[in-house]
Amino acid sequence: MGFSKKSGRYERIFNQLEELLRKTNDPLCRMATINAVLHHKMDNFFWTGFYLLHDGELRVGPYQGPVACQVLEKNKGVCWAAINTSKTIVVPDVEEFPGHIACDSRSKSEIAVPLKNPEGIIKGVLDIDSKERGNFNEEDALFLEKIVALIYT
Ligand code: SME
Repeated sequence: MGFSKKSGRYERIFNQLEELLRKTNDPLCRMATINAVLHHKMDNFFWTGFYLLHDGELRVGPYQGPVACQVLEKNKGVCWAAINTSKTIVVPDVEEFPGHIACDSRSKSEIAVPLKNPEGIIKGVLDIDSKERGNFNEEDALFLEKIVALIYT
């Protein structure tokens, strides 16, 4: 998808989500709704979901796509890197990311966006995998950060 086509789609999704998420402020309901919309409206999203921190473990939350790892080995892989740096991580080729955790060998590129509560405390991460190499870039990072910020507003 080209730059303007992708941002146009993200704009429409953002507006739709703003509307949908008004029904409840329950974070889990909001995460589930975000996954469903992103997964079915964006091209090449193979796995779309959240990993959430509980007692120092990163455990799978709501998701769409094939069965994934339930608990991620601590301080390893893309999701933990996003948590530990408090920054969005874009991985154009998962084979080149040291320690990448392959829940499904079909995933070739990935993006992980930290999820923070209003106090700035990291609660987890939005993780998206694609079967295409290089599916995610700074544009995805920008829009997905805006979308994730809706969860606790
Ligand atoms: N690849 C991730 C693990 C989660 S799955 O992609 C669904 C990681 O390295 O943290």
